[in-house]
Amino acid sequence: MTRTALVTGGSRGIGEAISRKLNAEGYTVVATYAGNDEKAAAFTAETGIKTYKWNVADYEASATGIAQVEAESGPIDIVVANAGITRDAPFHKMTPEQWKDVIDTNLTGVFNTIHPIWPGMRERKFGRVIVISSINGQKGQFAQVNYAATKAGDLGIVKSLAQEGARAGITANAICPGYIATEMVMAVPEKVREAIVGQIPAGRLGEPEEIARCVAFLASDDAGYVNGSTISVNGAQFFV
Ligand code: CAA
Repeated sequence: MTRTALVTGGSRGIGEAISRKLNAEGYTVVATYAGNDEKAAAFTAETGIKTYKWNVADYEASATGIAQVEAESGPIDIVVANAGITRDAPFHKMTPEQWKDVIDTNLTGVFNTIHPIWPGMRERKFGRVIVISSINGQKGQFAQVNYAATKAGDLGIVKSLAQEGARAGITANAICPGYIATEMVMAVPEKVREAIVGQIPAGRLGEPEEIARCVAFLASDDAGYVNGSTISVNGAQFFV
């Protein structure tokens, strides 16, 4: 039977590449998005992948949306918690709103996405939880106290879920992308970005597809004993 995969933030950036890759691998893929209706419609028209709009920071919206997805596309076997935002500022300038927006979306949003899906995975004795963290959750980053806190938090989430899910056939793993050529990274001022690329031994930004291929592996039956791990995909920029 075809497995169903949910990718949050799955119509743009790294999430788009993940949705396309899982679709190409034969999964039934469903993608969520937060705001860009035009992009989501174009993505669905091109790929045939259904998109649903809800705010991952809102638990009720997530639970309702997930129930609708499962009614329409079947139980979710694979969840990729990818949706995330940045609100970068040096700490002395960071506002409580910038802190809260990032925590609500990137950290609480991961809880809100996985929590409604988890009981069904436990019942069916199969699940793949994949959380897209970041190199900056591993090493910290100037102007990203909020973002780094959430991405480090992701690692705590998967290490704990891995222990809870292992006996129920569920794995939980994180991927820590380095700097990938997406709108999020392109929003970094050019000079700063050039300096960052200068620190990457590979000498280039990563491609979204390089993250998507790791997700496809973690989603597969081959990865059943990979559980609680963190896969770094960063062109040798940082080693844990
Ligand atoms: N390391 C050290 N110093 C840095 C720095 C860095 N990485 N980035 C900026 N600075 C310095 C600047 O040179 C400047 O120094 P001076 O005052 O001596 O000139 C100072 O910090 C910044 O001062 P400003 O008050 O002008 O800063 P600002 O309020 O305008 O904020 C900024 C600018 C938001 C920090 C901007 O520089 C920026 O966006 N930096 C990039 C942060 C970053 O890497 N974010 C990652 C985004 S991509 C992502 O998050 C995806 C992922 O998972 C990898």
